[in-house]
Amino acid sequence: MSNLTNHKVAMRNVPAGMPKPSDFAIETEELPALQSNQMLLRTRWLSLDPYMRPGMSAAERLGKTIVGGTVSEVVETRAEGWEPGDLVLGYYGWQEYSVATPDDVQWGNADIPIQKWDESLGPASTAVGVLGMTGFTAYQGLLNVARVRAGETVVVSAASGAVGQVVGQLAKIRGARAVGIAGGPAKCAFCVDELGFDACLDYKVPGLPERLAAAVPDGIDIYFENVGGDVLEAVIPLLNEGCRVPVCGYIAHYNLTDGEARPTPPQRLRAAGLPTLGKEGRTDGYRFFTFAELAATHPAAEEALAEMSGWIREGRLKHRESITDGLESSVDAFIGMLRGENFGKTMVRVA
Ligand SMILES: NC(=O)c1ccc[n+]([C@@H]2O[C@H](COP(=O)([O-])OP(=O)(O)OC[C@H]3O[C@@H](n4cnc5c(N)ncnc54)[C@H](OP(=O)(O)O)[C@@H]3O)[C@@H](O)[C@H]2O)c1
Repeated sequence: MSNLTNHKVAMRNVPAGMPKPSDFAIETEELPALQSNQMLLRTRWLSLDPYMRPGMSAAERLGKTIVGGTVSEVVETRAEGWEPGDLVLGYYGWQEYSVATPDDVQWGNADIPIQKWDESLGPASTAVGVLGMTGFTAYQGLLNVARVRAGETVVVSAASGAVGQVVGQLAKIRGARAVGIAGGPAKCAFCVDELGFDACLDYKVPGLPERLAAAVPDGIDIYFENVGGDVLEAVIPLLNEGCRVPVCGYIAHYNLTDGEARPTPPQRLRAAGLPTLGKEGRTDGYRFFTFAELAATHPAAEEALAEMSGWIREGRLKHRESITDGLESSVDAFIGMLRGENFGKTMVRVA
């Protein structure tokens, strides 16, 4: 390897509210020759995810390459057991190349080592989507945290997005009723017509509380929380006794400035009198959870992966990806996702 130039994206400013392109900087660097036990990876897929936005508010991240899940190809290797052409599921962030070692971990989590991706499970892009972090999130939240049962009513927000689209379909696979909440008629039609949700409501049309009440005549047994804000306000009065609210995220809060801050879903649900799920054996209530609860425990994660890959092959689990090309597209694609311009799992085909 000689004179290889890497392009990467770093934060130039801590964004105030919605990030602007000028908050990001595309930088170049010359990569050093490989040392023993190292390998050169070329990023093929970069996952763009809402959690990156809160991370950008940390001043210590300024000037550093933005983190993110990746699927890369081994280009050159001095590491035993890794061959050119191997696909590596890793956490190498917004850059074209990275110098890696087999001991690297994903998410800064020592329980989640980098892994070879087996394309018989699904195409490489799915490793950062439906068969990756976002699919695991849906699986963990609905099946293991909320423990959905047949006949229950499940409501999910950001319903057409990476996590939401899987949640609604898993609800259907388990025999529950799936009601989505999403922005705009096209996303709602996709959830019902393509994914088989029972209903989907456009939260951008006035009157969400009344329309949601009409769509859930038996109330809400599980609310899979992705959004917070006004959508959560519409849900709270409809929650049944014994309900479970897996709190996955709250994207409506991520770009609020200090002056605009609202109670987070855990704060709001506690104030509404809901207990903490799992505390002192409670099987109802709310709980913030992360995908890592599943990804960090390998046998369970492998089982989930095999199950979901099987459902995809059987045509029971569909997924939509929102793809842009080239590292230079990542900034606009990321901001677009925060604005709801993505339609499905947001990812960049870097190479
Ligand atoms: N806990 C975990 O381990 C974990 C893992 C993955 C994701 N998450 C969380 O899960 C949520 C969904 O993530 P994702 O990857 O599936 O993203 P996504 O749904 O694919 O994309 C984000 C979507 O959020 C919606 N949105 C943006 N601003 C909104 C607002 N003010 N009000 C309502 N909806 C808004 C937009 O959809 P519309 O066009 O429908 O508005 C946008 O498309 C996020 O909160 C994320 O932080 C958590």
